[in-house]
Amino acid sequence: MTDFKRILVTAALPYANGPIHIGHLAGCYIPADIYARYQRAQKRDIKLIGGSDEHGVPIQIRAMKEGITPQQVVDKYHAMIKDSLEQMGISFDIYSRTSNKVHHETASAFFTTLYNKGLFEEKETEQFYDEKAKVFLADRYITGTCPVCGNPNAFGDQCERCGSSLSPEQLINPRSTLSDAVPVKRKTKHWYFPLQNYEPWLKEWVLEEHKDWKNNVYGQCKSWLDNGLQPRAMTRDSNWGIKVPLPDAEGKVLYVWFDAPIGYISATKELTNDWADYWCKEDTRLVHFIGKDNIVFHCIIFPAMLKAHGNFVLPDNVPANEFLNIEGDKVSTSRNWAVWVHEYLKDFPGQQDVLRYVLCANAPETKDNDFTWKDFQERNNSELVAIFGNFINRAMVLMHKLTKGKVPPLHTELLDDHDNALIKDIAAAKTNIENLLENFRFRDALFEVIDLSRKGNKYMQDKQPWIVARELEQDPGKQKLIDNCLHLCLQLSANLAIFINPFLPGTAKKIQHMLKVVDKILDWENGGKLKLLSVGYSLRPPELLFRKIEDDEIQRQVDKLRSGGNMPEKKEEEVKSEDVKSENYAPVKPEITYDDFAKLDLRTGVIVSAEKVEKADKLLKLEIDLGFEKRTVVSGIALHYTPEQIVGKQVVVVVNLAPRKMKGITSNGMILMADSGGRLIFVNSEEDIPGGAGVA
Ligand code: 2FM
Ligand code: ZN
Repeated sequence: MTDFKRILVTAALPYANGPIHIGHLAGCYIPADIYARYQRAQKRDIKLIGGSDEHGVPIQIRAMKEGITPQQVVDKYHAMIKDSLEQMGISFDIYSRTSNKVHHETASAFFTTLYNKGLFEEKETEQFYDEKAKVFLADRYITGTCPVCGNPNAFGDQCERCGSSLSPEQLINPRSTLSDAVPVKRKTKHWYFPLQNYEPWLKEWVLEEHKDWKNNVYGQCKSWLDNGLQPRAMTRDSNWGIKVPLPDAEGKVLYVWFDAPIGYISATKELTNDWADYWCKEDTRLVHFIGKDNIVFHCIIFPAMLKAHGNFVLPDNVPANEFLNIEGDKVSTSRNWAVWVHEYLKDFPGQQDVLRYVLCANAPETKDNDFTWKDFQERNNSELVAIFGNFINRAMVLMHKLTKGKVPPLHTELLDDHDNALIKDIAAAKTNIENLLENFRFRDALFEVIDLSRKGNKYMQDKQPWIVARELEQDPGKQKLIDNCLHLCLQLSANLAIFINPFLPGTAKKIQHMLKVVDKILDWENGGKLKLLSVGYSLRPPELLFRKIEDDEIQRQVDKLRSGGNMPEKKEEEVKSEDVKSENYAPVKPEITYDDFAKLDLRTGVIVSAEKVEKADKLLKLEIDLGFEKRTVVSGIALHYTPEQIVGKQVVVVVNLAPRKMKGITSNGMILMADSGGRLIFVNSEEDIPGGAGVA
């Protein structure tokens, strides 16, 4: 840590295609903000960078659905998202947007640098084209009937009903969502970044040099790298985005995942003339806060782009979180199964810190987690109100009652074991919280803060100054014991303000106000000490930090969620990217009987040969040896594996599926693949299984 001179923190740029929900907050904005506020309190040179991601298919789909232009879409949602983030106290040094001129220039220049280095491969491929609308169609723009479940509204990349990962070729009766025309294949040229050339370097850089990354992040990177990288098109046919800065590139724009992360650089440029210090000097610590569906882009593709460019620092850490589910079900914007931030702000005015608390205490740091309204209520009532708020309130009330509204002196000669233990706990808490925050363990750090206030309550209970006060008449010397107790409780309150500040800044401000201390008191270096409040200083009357949340308020939220909410402008779907989908879980399909299951004949086999299918960039033709016979199977895995990579692989095959013709080839079966965040992985065993063995 000390080797770094400055810290550059980025938080994923949300698509400006709809409002943000609490999953966004829990995934990256709250952790990024806690980290930034903590580093500021440490008086380090730190910038928190954010902005809206305003290009790509998600925006175009939204525009189509609302019948407005993409520009109108981004203007509307950028303003809305910015406002929600501000109100939630996410302390961006800049919150920019990728439609800004400086970003267009920066991203174009980045592309040109790679182009001039001769890095891109120009390739002509066939892609779907809408002859009526006269545009090339991203897979998501093609709909048709799902070959797996018969859903008539499946998309060209995925069926939302059964969760199958699809290619447009697999759809029955494919149609363009723009004009309803039947899509046709047309040749088009694009610029590919040869990601595979960076594989050896990435393996060294991520897998050897960044073993310190979080397990979920490291594991996902390892899986991508173990499976081998492929060239990736960095341009798209579209009229919405950053124009490809080449003479022969009419109608082509930069791929949204090429331009979006460069947005971090552009926003820093907008923020400060010293932007190059942050981006180009080796003693910068670059940290990307993201959700898990963005891992490959921030840990593999963007670093390879930065490496290829050559002028920029690489991320030092990418502490990605997993997903936050709601009431046991994954967030679905189309079903309005979400808690929208702008709605929360309306329904719980002034209660930003409660949401920040619950989302941090229950953050999906190592695995997907669940948000429930009941848990929200319980954490508020039994942790914030009953423990933290209660301690501060008791300290303030008793100080006004028993020490005349002033900070009493500390009579060190009278300190007993309880006092000394509390003094030790305060110092230890500072070290613990600091270590946890430095290592991105925000939940545990917050737990330490609450635990310290719990210790404060216990201390007060052990000391019972209100009982001691009854003995004052007979023994006025006992005032000294009361002084000691309240002196320590007030110093602890000031410490709690410092420690809670990165998490709940509004609460820290309220404590600071009651204690009548200046902002500087919240500097981290003041933590762990007992010298924050001067003896004899008079303090303000107590005010409650948190209020109890009642059952009916919670019931209203649960009802609203279950009834589909009252969101007038819900996002129809969450489109994460054009060809890498978010890692989510497909809904469980309707129940079947054992007899239904028994109809399936699953067998093991080995791929003995594989070749590309002409004019179908997603399909491979496989010969599979099943032991009792050889079969031809056409499989949509060509974007994930080259033929050479898979010959010899053991697979599980559905052998009694009715034959289907694809691109003139009859496919006699289907191989089973696991879909992990859009990446297809072979389902196989460590052990060799003889061909033809039944799978049950
Ligand atoms: O997944 C998303 O919402 C993307 N808009 C995140 C982009 S992060 C960065 F690369 F800009
Ligand atoms: Zn389906």
